[in-house]
Amino acid sequence: MLEITINGNKYQVEKGQTILEAAKKCGVLIPHFCYHPCLSIPGNCRICLVKVEGWNDLTLSCLNPVVDGMKIETESQEVLEARKSVMQFITLNHPVDCGVCDKSGECILQNYHFAHNGEKSISNEPKNHQEKFYEVSERIILDNERCIVCSRCVRFTDEISKSHALGIFKRGDHAVVRRVNEATPLQDPYSDNIIDICPVGALLSKDFLYKDRVWYLKETHSICPGCDRGCNIKIWSRKEEWKLKNLSHKNNLIARITPHITPEVNGHWICNKARDLAKYFERPRQLIPQINNREVSLSTAVKETQELIKKSKRIAFIVSSWGSNEELQVLKETLGHQFDFYVKDDLLPQKHEVIEDQILIRRNKNPNRFSAVQLFGSKDFPRGEAFDLVVVWGEGFDFHLLDTNTRVIQFTSYRDIISEKAIVLIPISTMLERSGHYTNGLGVTSSFEQVFEIPQKVIHASELFKMLGRKA
Ligand code: SF4
Ligand code: SF4
Ligand code: FES
Repeated sequence: MLEITINGNKYQVEKGQTILEAAKKCGVLIPHFCYHPCLSIPGNCRICLVKVEGWNDLTLSCLNPVVDGMKIETESQEVLEARKSVMQFITLNHPVDCGVCDKSGECILQNYHFAHNGEKSISNEPKNHQEKFYEVSERIILDNERCIVCSRCVRFTDEISKSHALGIFKRGDHAVVRRVNEATPLQDPYSDNIIDICPVGALLSKDFLYKDRVWYLKETHSICPGCDRGCNIKIWSRKEEWKLKNLSHKNNLIARITPHITPEVNGHWICNKARDLAKYFERPRQLIPQINNREVSLSTAVKETQELIKKSKRIAFIVSSWGSNEELQVLKETLGHQFDFYVKDDLLPQKHEVIEDQILIRRNKNPNRFSAVQLFGSKDFPRGEAFDLVVVWGEGFDFHLLDTNTRVIQFTSYRDIISEKAIVLIPISTMLERSGHYTNGLGVTSSFEQVFEIPQKVIHASELFKMLGRKA
């Protein structure tokens, strides 16, 4: 350990850290734009200048390592003046766009302007206007006037996603971020991370553009179910106090999805599939209990399920690999002795989807196969075997595997092809309407919280299993 002094206070810090990182661990935040903990350090924005005793000039805290006995000032008059000058320089050509900018409310530039500058522009020259909407990809646009050329996005594509798709071209106040190969559209399954790490509102998600203001939204901790990496995510949706009266259908929509930093699962990143989860969750729902495609009450559907189970001799239960650890456990405890169990993959890889890579994306496209297989085994469903009854939990079961005389009961959240064949259909909640845990393919367990209310006539799978277990 080393002893350093920051603003007159002594701290013990680990060797090998930069001044900025060591100060952060001691609770002293030094402003920074270009520095990002997962990327290389270019030292180009200059906002992190600090004074080290005995050094002639102010120094970049993001670049220089701490040494034993170092005395650092982060708030002295000299440092504050330099910080203010850097802010004036960085905002010299920046448009006054905050009112319409998607980053407003979570923009570092905006926050630092209030904290460290607060003055009107000192330039007598007109602002240097740039191309307003450059298309980075079909998902992302770049407002060049807002870009402070910190190079985070370029370094991300070089060092993390390795698509090497972006570069900085031209010099001085003409410098712009561009696709390296203008003729080729940006192909990078991790591209939307650059929107998050852009410290200003230069890189914008087309999907989110002008749709919301971040202060209307709340974030809920969740898990991406797109593959068995189970990346931890934040699902953003309308705050209770900002719910819309006349457009109430919007209150239960996902506004956007961003990563939840989790070192042991996904670090700082997620792939674009997670960003598009709204498209998955906002498909037509199965919301009404049915018997032979006719609407019934939930209690009637449950009763009919119990009757069919009682009457049948040989029953197969198809276990969802989207069920939470809690639901799987309840199934095991309540009905585990009654059926032959087969775990299915609810979703298979889709066309044009990245199947697997060395970054995050994993081959199995279901979030909890690990736990389902641990509890119910991994044997394949025997094609054409004469079961009297098959109970299907979730989506994706191949109906063609069944003997034509086999009766089907389905517990599902979404409409799919089996639903029409099911004698009894009971709608169950999605993972957005309940909380629980998933264990990813590497054996790491994460939690997800409830985002939306469960609709009327829809039941949680765990409650359904308990009801069936009580009377079956
Ligand atoms: S677009 Fe954003 S992340 Fe990229 S260089 Fe400009 S300010 Fe930095
Ligand atoms: S890597 Fe898998 S779990 Fe992570 S964001 Fe992508 S699809 Fe979701
Ligand atoms: S954060 Fe140090 S130069 Fe940008």
